[in-house]
Amino acid sequence: MGTPQPSADPTTHPAPERKVALVTGAARGIGAAIAAELHRRGLRVALLDQDDTGARALAKSLDPDGGSAMAVHADVSDPEGTERAVRAVSSAWRSPDVLVNNAARTAPGSVWDVDLDEWDALMATNLRSVLVLTRLCAPAMRERGWGRVVNLASLAGQQGGLVAGPHYAAAKAGVLVLTKVFAQELAAHGVTVNAVAPAAVQTPVMDDLPAEALQRAADRIPVGRFGRPEEVAALVGHLAGEDTGYITGATLDVNGGLFMR
Ligand SMILES: NC(=O)c1ccc[n+]([C@@H]2O[C@H](COP(=O)([O-])OP(=O)(O)OC[C@H]3O[C@@H](n4cnc5c(N)ncnc54)[C@H](O)[C@@H]3O)[C@@H](O)[C@H]2O)c1
Repeated sequence: MGTPQPSADPTTHPAPERKVALVTGAARGIGAAIAAELHRRGLRVALLDQDDTGARALAKSLDPDGGSAMAVHADVSDPEGTERAVRAVSSAWRSPDVLVNNAARTAPGSVWDVDLDEWDALMATNLRSVLVLTRLCAPAMRERGWGRVVNLASLAGQQGGLVAGPHYAAAKAGVLVLTKVFAQELAAHGVTVNAVAPAAVQTPVMDDLPAEALQRAADRIPVGRFGRPEEVAALVGHLAGEDTGYITGATLDVNGGLFMR
């Protein structure tokens, strides 16, 4: 057996720089699973959350040395704070190649009772943040000729479901349209923008709901169970990959067959 030879001269063929992903709402639930999946796929991952403790703990568990996972503290409804967070990621690593707009909150209540300030606040978190973050991250993607934006929508945004609040449903419908608007803007520049629409995924939000109500809800799902965050994350990981350059402006459902179209 001869001496092993290096396959390429590293001075003439430098390794490509490891891609950077920014995932919002990454401290728990679906966002945490997405961050873990992208990290498993070899990306450096910035976990943006207003829950700094949770985001730091997950970043540490993904990469104890801190070279490929970092927590960034921001409230996505605050454009200045969000911009500072994106700048921190860009100066530590580089401007994100992959952006996952996942952070959102629910606000159950009737369309007749929703307070108008609360309407505006939820829209700022669940919808305006998608505009703000995509405007912050997409120009560098466009310049490089490669980028992936994945927005977390919801069945509520497709069907007008009321469980999570009327403003939640309206915001998610807005996310679906904004996905298409950005997809058209960026399609010619190697940047895809897609939406993933989950329903009934088992996350900490469900911990507070009564077991009986959860069982009744599960019985209505054709697949017969709630979804797992990892199942949503697998799809987001795929959309963030190299082979999906021809998928853009799409909404992909992950709902156990609850809504077929
Ligand atoms: N779980 C489901 O069944 C389901 C169904 C449809 C859509 N979704 C969507 O999937 C995404 C993730 O849902 P989840 O169930 O994992 O939610 P979750 O409540 O478990 O986690 C949301 C995360 O976002 C963070 N966050 C919330 N508001 C923020 C803000 N203003 N700034 C920064 N971080 C903020 C929270 O701290 C938390 O870590 C959301 O967009 C949600 O609307 C979830």
